[in-house]
Amino acid sequence: MRVIIEPDYATMSRWAAAYVVHSIRQFNPTKDRPFVMGLPTGSTPIGMYQNLIKLHKAGKISFAHVVTFNMDEYVGLTKDHPQSYHAFMWDNLFSHIDIPKHNVHILNGMAKDLWAECDQYEQSIQRFGGIELFVGGIGPDGHLAFNEPGSSLASRTRVKTLNESTVIANARFFDGDLSRVPRTALTVGVGTVMDARQVMILANGSGKARAVAAGIEEGVNHMWTVSCVQMHPHAIFVCDDDATLELKVGTVQYFKSIEKDNLDPDKMLIG
Ligand code: GLP
Repeated sequence: MRVIIEPDYATMSRWAAAYVVHSIRQFNPTKDRPFVMGLPTGSTPIGMYQNLIKLHKAGKISFAHVVTFNMDEYVGLTKDHPQSYHAFMWDNLFSHIDIPKHNVHILNGMAKDLWAECDQYEQSIQRFGGIELFVGGIGPDGHLAFNEPGSSLASRTRVKTLNESTVIANARFFDGDLSRVPRTALTVGVGTVMDARQVMILANGSGKARAVAAGIEEGVNHMWTVSCVQMHPHAIFVCDDDATLELKVGTVQYFKSIEKDNLDPDKMLIG
């Protein structure tokens, strides 16, 4: 596992965006061989998305041959509901880049048969040959997508009941009104994320520090589902200093020293 520790949110967001651009360029996608990405919502990836938009507008990257699969979606919100993850993704990324509409995949939380929707999503990922790079945020309790504590580490895309702490954490997007936060969601499974060729986890702020420590220093444990990435052959945590506050000083120093030559996001954008 790589752990990239940047001083603040702005730099970690630039690093994550540069890594995405670098990965797409290296893959050199075409219409018949697109670059397939998994994408998160939440406040954490907004900085990365803003940087991707900037890089796209500066002519540094095209998304014409990029296919995306989002991690999750609330059950019961229409696509145009302002708090749906559909609306979030179009507002914060897709409307500002050259991705073709049919390349975007987001679970439909209004589907008549939610379980069939989840099965079809998995099949659709398979049809594209699997995901090259899955980018994820984490909840304060270490949840990945909506894989709440106790989720099977072998889980696939499915319907999931949200726990109280996630409902409380996400109430900020619903004017703090707990009663408006949906109680169920559709989410890719831990196994779905683990099948990706690379996984990049973003975490900023002290609110994520316990989850980051559990994910990096403790054992693989279904109570902190993000810890699954310890078993992944190509996983990267991208953190700001505050998110590392619960890591041992030695752990922070270790990763800072082995990654010291890799911390400048601009280096990845050369060429
Ligand atoms: C929700 C999403 C997760 C996301 C988490 C953290 O629960 N389902 O995918 O990682 O929120 O959100 P934030 O980045 O706003 O802290």
